[in-house]
Amino acid sequence: MISAPRGTSDILPPDSSLWQHIEQCARTLFQRYGYAEIRTPVFEHTELFVRSIGDTTDIVEKEMYTFPDRKGRSLTLRPEGTASVVRACLEHKLFSLGKLLKFFYAGPMFRYERPQSGRQRQFHQIGVELFGTSSPLADAEVIAMMVRFFEATGVRNPTVILNTLGDTDSRSAYRAALLSFVTPHLPNLCPDCQRRAERNILRVLDCKVPSCKAIFSSPDTPRTISSLSSSARAHYTAVRQALDALHIPYTEDPTLVRGLDYYTHTIFEVRHGALGAQDALGGGGRYDNLVREMGGPDVPGVGFAIGVERLVMALCQASVPPTSRAPDVALIAHDEQALRDNLVLADILRGRGLSVLTWYDLQSVKAQMRQANNAKVRWAVIQGEDERHHGLLKLKDMRVGTERLCSLDELVTILSANLPS
Ligand code: HAM
Repeated sequence: MISAPRGTSDILPPDSSLWQHIEQCARTLFQRYGYAEIRTPVFEHTELFVRSIGDTTDIVEKEMYTFPDRKGRSLTLRPEGTASVVRACLEHKLFSLGKLLKFFYAGPMFRYERPQSGRQRQFHQIGVELFGTSSPLADAEVIAMMVRFFEATGVRNPTVILNTLGDTDSRSAYRAALLSFVTPHLPNLCPDCQRRAERNILRVLDCKVPSCKAIFSSPDTPRTISSLSSSARAHYTAVRQALDALHIPYTEDPTLVRGLDYYTHTIFEVRHGALGAQDALGGGGRYDNLVREMGGPDVPGVGFAIGVERLVMALCQASVPPTSRAPDVALIAHDEQALRDNLVLADILRGRGLSVLTWYDLQSVKAQMRQANNAKVRWAVIQGEDERHHGLLKLKDMRVGTERLCSLDELVTILSANLPS
């Protein structure tokens, strides 16, 4: 037997209806904020991710699914969505200075990580990207939209964790402070961190090796907040004020840095207590230099992505039930002729918007009724020799058990009038 590759999973009913519920919530809510859907390829040129996410990040160094195609070009299964959205906007010349662009996306992402609960090699994100404003109000609205989205799906008590990396000047000052803190510890750091210290000091803070983590979580570790320029400090204050005005609670965590190089200013995560070690339901932040660094105009951006598998886990723990819709009507057949007639009747009813349960092989009426009951069907239509002889069908209201005989036209009218909203 061939099984699914490690770190991937099948999404089966009834869980798949929870996925549809999540996607539906996203589409409805994001549309209210003016976001339109964008769909980008699942694989891109490797260079795109190396340049945007950063060549010294864990994602690029260790986690990408990179392969040569048949012509020897290096391609990578996308590990995240932001880089592809920026690439698509550049390619289709969507950026122009001062113009707002709002996109959302949903789809699979790929990272070669060690699988565990809430961490997969193929996982799914729903994300948004807003381009064209550097206003702190945009940061606050994006964070609020993420929280409202979790609330709409049924998650209880998501926690917003907030920090800022500041602007380019603040980040250079922070890098210098971090480097002087790290230098005396260099001999005790793992080889990866020793390399990171040389090439991209900020990334030492992503290290998962316990001895390195212990050093970087000490109270003496420099915090980004201490290196902020005055304009970066003002931006961060304005974000917090706007969140307060929106009544979005948040916890500030000066150690949050996020594992992608493109962030500037505001960064955030939403965590959920019931998820265990992989507790980030989603994360995001502002990235004011990315578009320019990718060869485009000076257009700032801010966005987030949520992990759908983790959201499903949180909803299951909150006992949010799958929301699959029961069939409206079951077509019960007494004989082979009725099976054939029901094929046509089902086609008519489905054309009227009804969800119809039918069978293809003859079973006892009792067995069909039992399955209709189990599926919580509202109506049953029974056709046997008797009914056929009189050109009629028997319609049973499964909620109350009443039955009536009707013509095909009457049946279609009655069922269409009772269509669920
Ligand atoms: P990220 O924090 O790398 O950000 O991923 C966002 C979310 O995807 C995580 O919080 C988590 O819920 C989920 N996730 C990540 N890796 C895995 C995994 N291996 N298994 C299951 N779920 C996972 C980004 O990807 C940025 N592009 C977000 C962004 C958009 N920033 C600005 N705009």
